[in-house]
Formats: sequence, C-alpha cells, structure tokens
Amino acid sequence: MESVRTCLAKGNIWATSAQMIIVVAARASDDCDLSDRRSYSLFDCGLAIGQLQLRATELGMIAHPIAGYDPTRVKQALEIPEEYVVITLVICGYPGSDDSMLSEKQRTAEQERPVRKPEGENIFFDAWGRSSAD
Ligand SMILES: Cc1cc2nc3c(=O)[nH]c(=O)nc-3n(C[C@H](O)[C@H](O)[C@H](O)COP(=O)(O)O)c2cc1C
Repeated sequence: MESVRTCLAKGNIWATSAQMIIVVAARASDDCDLSDRRSYSLFDCGLAIGQLQLRATELGMIAHPIAGYDPTRVKQALEIPEEYVVITLVICGYPGSDDSMLSEKQRTAEQERPVRKPEGENIFFDAWGRSSAD
C-alpha cells in the first residue's frame, strides 16, 4: 500500500491515514465496448463502487472514491497491465477527528454540502437543455 500512497496528488495527502485503499482497474474488453464510446466497463465499475459505498456507510465507514493520483505510477507500482484503466482509488476507513492533513478549503467542504445544479442544467426534460418548466 505504501507504493500506492506515493502516487497520490498533494491535495489527497489525507488519504495516507486511511486503513485501506482499493485500486479499481477496468479493461474494456472484459465488458461491453460498443459504438459511440459506450465503454460499459467504466459504468459497471461505478455501479460496483456505489454499492460498496452504501455497504461501507452501513458499517460505519467512509469509502471515498478519488481521481487525484498518477494512474501510470499506480499501474507501475502494482504491475497492472497497460490495457487496464485505473479508474479510481477508493479510500476506506473509519471517520476520525484529526483534520490536520486537510487544507482550509477541504475543512470547509467537510462542513457544507456542495450546491446542487438545478434541473435544466444537467438533468433535462423532453429534449437536451430543457427543464420541465420550459
Ligand atoms: C470524478 C471525481 C473525482 C474526485 N476526486 C477526488 C479527489 O481526488 N480527492 C478528493 O478528496 N475528492 C475527490 N472527489 C470527491 C469530491 O471532492 C467530493 O467530495 C464529492 O464528490 C462530494 O460528494 P457529494 O456529491 O456526495 O457531495 C472526486 C469526485 C469525483 C466525482
């Protein structure tokens, strides 16, 4: 795990105190890879991780998927074949009270839920760009 920790982006230094890091790797040829860039391996990883997050929450843990790492270095460190995409690292652990590894921005983000985009901006009704109010 130490080798994976060294691949994290600076802003993810907090992840080094987690009990476990799950490296999620997908290969397009193991799943449906269809026309117009429909690479379902990534979709299916997302579904699987979503279930994992629910179960982790049930167990009183946090499972936080991140994209802030060097995927090439992770592959090298774990000898993952080139054709795989390291789509996310899931940082898993029990909630703690030590926030000394967080930036000021991250501390604030821990306290406040992010603003959600309104319907019509990325969820549409009847046609692209329309909301149910149009
Ligand atoms: C594609 C993607 C990449 C992310 N990468 C990171 C990351 O590298 N480090 C991090 O702390 N959080 C990362 N996050 C998590 C977000 O910063 C944020 O905590 C999360 O999306 C908020 O969850 P919410 O939508 O439930 O509010 C990422 C989220 C997404 C969707």
